[in-house]
Amino acid sequence: MNNRTTFDTRNDFPPDFTWGVATSAFQIEGASTADGKGPSIWDTFCADRANIKDGSDGSVACDHYRRYRDDVALLASLGVDAYRFSMAWSRVQPQGRGAWNPAGFDFYDRLLDELARREVKAHLTLYHWDLPQGLQDEGGWLNRDTAYRFADYAHEVTRRFGDRIEAIATHNEPWCTANLGYGNAQFAPGVADLKQSIQVSHHLLLSHGLAMTAMRGLHSPAKLGIVLNQWTADPATDSQADRDLAAFEYARSTQWFMDPIFKGHYPELALRAHGANAPEVRSGDFDIIQQPIDFLGCNYYFRAWCSAATPPVPMPAAQGLTDMGWEIYPQGLPELLVKLNEEYDLPPIYITENGMANADVLEGGQVHDAARIAFVQSHLAALREAMAAGVDVRGYFLWSLLDNFEWNSGYEKRFGIVHVDYATQQRTLKDSALWYRDFLAARR
Ligand code: FCB
Repeated sequence: MNNRTTFDTRNDFPPDFTWGVATSAFQIEGASTADGKGPSIWDTFCADRANIKDGSDGSVACDHYRRYRDDVALLASLGVDAYRFSMAWSRVQPQGRGAWNPAGFDFYDRLLDELARREVKAHLTLYHWDLPQGLQDEGGWLNRDTAYRFADYAHEVTRRFGDRIEAIATHNEPWCTANLGYGNAQFAPGVADLKQSIQVSHHLLLSHGLAMTAMRGLHSPAKLGIVLNQWTADPATDSQADRDLAAFEYARSTQWFMDPIFKGHYPELALRAHGANAPEVRSGDFDIIQQPIDFLGCNYYFRAWCSAATPPVPMPAAQGLTDMGWEIYPQGLPELLVKLNEEYDLPPIYITENGMANADVLEGGQVHDAARIAFVQSHLAALREAMAAGVDVRGYFLWSLLDNFEWNSGYEKRFGIVHVDYATQQRTLKDSALWYRDFLAARR
């Protein structure tokens, strides 16, 4: 890794490669009750202060709902080609079924106008974890009917905006919705039940398929796909136990979402291991789930380190840890992409998230986040390797444009390339934002 070249300009990538930054609605918008917005499961989850490390919530966040014009100007000033953001379902359909909220749609209408005016392409995610509370009250993602409600929502959004959006992803990281929302209660709705989490993952996949069908019927020019968080799983040692654990981890996480979409079934290894916790699948479900997607969004942060020993063999973390405690492991990105490319017939790939939390300090109007620059550079060099090995990667979105509400970590973890002072809402470009701007500006 240390021998890798770092790239100082975008010229080392294809000229039509898409460069962007990413955010999500709940993490930046705030205005959680404005203009008819209904509550989402994250509003409810935050209301129990014990759920969020700093006892905070998303009611103000980056106040992006009011400051979106300035924020679009800011991201356009960096010279990005595209902006990945999500729509808050309960803003446009307060209960998650029934009446639409025109004021909610107006906000996204204005946001899209602003992006178009600045020639920044819109990459929309329909679901970045903020289910309308009204649907949660009817069973949330454990209720199969929620998948049908999601398809209605996808249809309506695409009907209204499909011709102004470059790409629409159904879900962001359904692994997290299922495993953190229903598996270990770290995320909303805060359930810890393995069987439920596995059933939820099936309903999420089903909802993806139903939404794809509903959107396809509209023949909009937007590219349609899904965003998955993915990782390779490395055994800590050569022992059979570690290798088995790694194989299971890869099957239950990465393949669990890839196999249904690309092969029309669940991975045998994980299905067997889940035993009585395996999901209820109805006949025809896989036909709905397995249909062509125009792109696959891959969010890459780290690899899985698998040790069956007690105590576990420690992760080497030779390149250090981020402020989240996540291992910095750029070579996992080409390893993952090359492996996926061998296992599946992949559509074009976008790296829809990559970045790091850093203990940034604002001093004299500057933030010297050299670690973040090095992180991005090393991951771009690694990405280039994957492309050289034949993986069709079309774009890269840095997570995140702004420091924001990092879910159960609250505001303590800073992922932005732009610093946010939450007391004043002042935005300050960190060194990484200045670096990205120069990287993007230097065109052959
Ligand atoms: C991803 C999420 C995103 C953000 C980053 C750090 O799992 O999609 O919202 O929290 O992690």
